Amino acid sequence: MNDEFVPQWIVERKRDGAALAEADIREWIARYADGRLPDYQMAALAMAIYFRGMSPEETLALTDAMMRSGDTLSWDDLSRPTADKHSTGGIGDKLSIPLAPLVASCGVAVPMISGRGLGITGGTLDKLESIPGYDTHLDNARFRAVVDAVGCSIIGQTDRLAPADRKLYALRDVTGTVPSIPLITASILSKKLAEGAATLVFDVKCGAGAFMKTPADARALADSLLAVARGAGRHAEALVTAMDQPVGETAGNALEIAESVDLLRGAGPADALELALRLAVPMLTLSGVSPDEASARALLEKRLASGAALETFAQMVAAQGGDARVAESPETVLPQAPVLLDVAAPRAGHLARVDADGIGRAVLLLGGGRRAVTDAIDPAVGVSRLRKVGERIEKGEPLATLHARTRAEAEALVPQVLGAFSFSDEPVAAPALVL
Ligand code: URA
Repeated sequence: MNDEFVPQWIVERKRDGAALAEADIREWIARYADGRLPDYQMAALAMAIYFRGMSPEETLALTDAMMRSGDTLSWDDLSRPTADKHSTGGIGDKLSIPLAPLVASCGVAVPMISGRGLGITGGTLDKLESIPGYDTHLDNARFRAVVDAVGCSIIGQTDRLAPADRKLYALRDVTGTVPSIPLITASILSKKLAEGAATLVFDVKCGAGAFMKTPADARALADSLLAVARGAGRHAEALVTAMDQPVGETAGNALEIAESVDLLRGAGPADALELALRLAVPMLTLSGVSPDEASARALLEKRLASGAALETFAQMVAAQGGDARVAESPETVLPQAPVLLDVAAPRAGHLARVDADGIGRAVLLLGGGRRAVTDAIDPAVGVSRLRKVGERIEKGEPLATLHARTRAEAEALVPQVLGAFSFSDEPVAAPALVL
């Protein structure tokens, strides 16, 4: 086959709408990963895939080839089943942080490899690093030891996990080929399959603050993720969830850790708690720990009420070098911004819209996100006490509280935050969480 491997012929085949042979996809990725195939040919193929798409079989072959470009982990020696959740990302989406210890406290191991902020969406690793001492760079042996001892661990991607994706993602970012369902599927799943969890639950975000803006696109991505994950022999479930307003009441790194602690106490904002439970349920049922949804939900609520979920979080933080007192008194352990400024409602009414995108931009501008990949972020800044769509607001009541480094920075962002809120004179129903 290698004698016949002429890269431009493969590009031409995809350009003209034909399906690629599995052997050609494997050879292509092997050559791209080790540098024998140049970026310009990879970029041409990515653009052909963008326009022509891929069948589920081609997407599975691409995902598998990318997964095999690096290390793959196996958890077969663990006494517990394994599960993980992947979210396509949104504003205020801190759910991985309470979810991993919550599910682990129910007897399912959660080896979670997470990412940093992308664009205006925050990253789980950035949030966890606001806990003093928390180390996200564990090698495979330490990762395994923490999962074994505690039941969960959340770390960052190592250089050896799906390196073909790392290279291709950077190329897609600068060639207009990010929003392609087969390429997104292969990117997400090459990493998730390499991580080795037997059950995968996907939270595909849909709406103004998400990658996928329409339910049809979100549904198509969910179907593609499920087809490939199941094709690779994993148990998988997907939820398409709303990302028009931020999840919960905080956006910003340390603020989201504090809210995660509230959620692990069974308190915290109702939407975030409900979403955490909805995502946790299939992790338990597909893993075989709970026979049905009702018993999974009952077990999860029991672990929240008993403090077991919060205790597992404290153990994970301690095992990764962090200050575990964060689980008791987040306000004394986490960095605090020096300036707090309430943003007052300019009128009375029912909240009709809280634009996640606008809030995400405000957090970035406060210093909580990056303008360039090399930027350091300020863990303390962000937005808290965000009011939710459907709430009745009186004129002058706080819509949100800004946490800033200086009063000038906070005041400069008030118009940006106000612009994210719209009012209605008529009552507005709270929007559905799961679409
Ligand atoms: N997240 C990823 O890891 N890859 C994509 O292509 C999109 C989102």
